Amino acid sequence: MTDYPLQGDVNPDVNPYLISPPPEIPALPSPLRLGVLASGSGSNFAAIAQAIADDTLNAQIQVLIYNNPDAKVAVRAEKWQIPTVLLNHRRFPHREALDREIVQTLETYEVDWVVMAGWMRVVTPILLAAFPNQVLNIHPSLLPSFKGVRAVEQALAAGVKITGCTVHRVVPEVDSGAILMQAAVPILPGDTVASLQARIQVQEHRIFPPAIALAATMP
Ligand code: GAR
Repeated sequence: MTDYPLQGDVNPDVNPYLISPPPEIPALPSPLRLGVLASGSGSNFAAIAQAIADDTLNAQIQVLIYNNPDAKVAVRAEKWQIPTVLLNHRRFPHREALDREIVQTLETYEVDWVVMAGWMRVVTPILLAAFPNQVLNIHPSLLPSFKGVRAVEQALAAGVKITGCTVHRVVPEVDSGAILMQAAVPILPGDTVASLQARIQVQEHRIFPPAIALAATMP
């Protein structure tokens, strides 16, 4: 018998991880028109597409913008028959030029909400001004801990026992905008970057779709 009774959905048989707020997907009056930015494998992109297909997230992915020609996310998008646009950052003189092209593409595809799903570029006020308060990001740590690159490595190196993932609004300072939803992930003895990252990603896929809907229902 514990002196500190547990509250909420933390029964390890039901939910070994703690998610806050609980990931119910709020009802939305009309479908969100999403533009997804991604750089890598696209498992979060797929989780969002799946939530839409399952009718748990009332949204439509208008376009995927990716920056690495070999990114697997493009293959996933084609499978979902979602339009893809490659904007290779190496072909732009500076971040602002890339962001201008991103904004133009998002406007062409009539996007309302910008979702950074493993987008490994720092965005500029050009993108943020075009979509005020409507740019979201997922980060593999419990922000404000371990901002920036290699967040999973940072958590392992720091020796913390619990890390996780965060969905937040994007502001010019990296990984610093208002937090929408977080999931905690314990670090287990013997964890490697790969094993921990894999467990964090399972939680990312759980929180990203409801956090997008949550953002759309908040001022
Ligand atoms: C995700 O784990 C996401 O949190 C991370 O990139 C991964 C992309 O995976 N994002 C960042 O580190 C942003 N700073 P995915 O391509 O399989 O969705």
